[in-house]
Amino acid sequence: MNQNELKKAAAERAVSFVQEGRVLGVGTGSTVDFFIDALAASGKKVPACVSSSVRSTEHLERLGFKVLDPNEVDEIEVYVDGADEIDSGFHMVKGGGGALTREKILASLARTYVCIADESKLVPVFGRFPLPVEVIPMAVGVVSRQLKALGGEPKLRDFTTDNGCKILDVSGLQITDPVALEEKINQIPGVVTVGLFARRGADVLLLATADGVKESA
Ligand code: 5RP
Repeated sequence: MNQNELKKAAAERAVSFVQEGRVLGVGTGSTVDFFIDALAASGKKVPACVSSSVRSTEHLERLGFKVLDPNEVDEIEVYVDGADEIDSGFHMVKGGGGALTREKILASLARTYVCIADESKLVPVFGRFPLPVEVIPMAVGVVSRQLKALGGEPKLRDFTTDNGCKILDVSGLQITDPVALEEKINQIPGVVTVGLFARRGADVLLLATADGVKESA
């Protein structure tokens, strides 16, 4: 199976976690795109979704799902999203698709975060994937200097987020304590969100491997 087939397998398994009659949280990315397609094909009755990006909102609406503003929702039962890296403690690095801030907001509203990923995303320690940091545009310079002082090499992504902000992709960081680093980077003035999901990680991992989709919680 190639990587896309693995992503699709994890995404299809996630449909069984969707509770009919409850508002569903939907993340962003190519794995989530497979999930949205699989959800539509399943015919499960979802009254409405909240989405972490314009991209996912448009995809959901195209397939006939209603999408609510998160301000209209107090809690989400299940949130389905991917990851760029995930460790054995279900901490994650996210933001490859640039939707990290809205993803973190939806994760904070969710009772159960179901992470869907192919096996290449499971890592013993973070660092292979550059860490995305969403930044207020006027603070790109000052935040870059602070990230360099932490040992990172920030690179400005040629991209503007749905929130009108910029993203610095930071390589070279030693991420041995993800919770501490998440807190430290979030404290830098001008940072909107760091793509470390350590304080609130996933609850369930659906990891697609050559031997099938492995479920752990
Ligand atoms: C978007 C994300 C995605 O979940 C992450 O980038 C994984 O994407 P894909 O499913 O395309 O591999 O965090 O901001």
